[in-house]
Amino acid sequence: MKTMKSRVILNNGVEMPILGLGVFESGENTAPAVRYALENGYRLIDTAAFYGNEKEVGRAVKDSGVPREEIFVTTKIWNDMQREGRQRESFEKSLKALDLDYVDLYLVHWPIPGKIGETWKVLEQLYEEKLVRAIGVSNFLEHHLEELSIKGNIAPAVNQFECHPHLIRKELREYCKSCGIVPEAWSPLGRGEALAEPLLQELGRKYDKTPAQIILRYHVQNGVAPIPKSVHPERIIQNKEVFDFALTPEEMADIEKLDCGSMHGDPDHVDW
Ligand code: A2P
Repeated sequence: MKTMKSRVILNNGVEMPILGLGVFESGENTAPAVRYALENGYRLIDTAAFYGNEKEVGRAVKDSGVPREEIFVTTKIWNDMQREGRQRESFEKSLKALDLDYVDLYLVHWPIPGKIGETWKVLEQLYEEKLVRAIGVSNFLEHHLEELSIKGNIAPAVNQFECHPHLIRKELREYCKSCGIVPEAWSPLGRGEALAEPLLQELGRKYDKTPAQIILRYHVQNGVAPIPKSVHPERIIQNKEVFDFALTPEEMADIEKLDCGSMHGDPDHVDW
């Protein structure tokens, strides 16, 4: 993983940038943040129907002037639309809001008990119709992935889950990799909470990097694709400058010791 242009190859051959911009709670700053990121080398933008900003993302994609085929847009189906059996309609709404012809990666946002097979069939259909270049899941634990492997025909390309130094998810990461599923990290900075860790500050001094850059380097070196959210231009730039240094295996192991199980959303209790 040498540069911002580095790509991971998904299980269907599609290339995905190793680092992108998240836009959860970016609010009115979504369009300027996305546009600024695209103008400065980002090529992966991660949104979701639930974030309520697909329209702004789509507008920024167009305004950036970057050719559409160079940009990797991810969005996700929300829980209520799964519960109500309106998966197809949900996708069509997202595509319309984004004002795009296709989505690069479409994810099941959370595993909804009793709906895993049904929702996945709709995603498989969208994939076959070439409306999405790849399909995947988010917040799936090992047992959800096992259920999907029984009920589905196409393996998910990506599993996006909460992953940061306070929740390292080592077993889930390894399980995904053993199934050919690329792990992607939401809240890769732990919503900013992990940044104050003395170890990360110390490593930052050693490499002349910020704690955020140390964390993002840790993810990339682990083969996990992080999607840090920021609406600040200087941080958007800072977060992509993680390809000019490498952490030692001992430092990687030390970062994993910061795990304290701090979780913002439990996939086994989705009541939202
Ligand atoms: P902001 O958008 O104001 O820059 P995560 O992606 O882990 O959820 O973290 C997002 C949080 O971390 C947001 O509050 C974001 O704030 C903040 N953040 C993003 N990048 C940096 C950075 N390089 N340094 C400090 N805080 C950051």
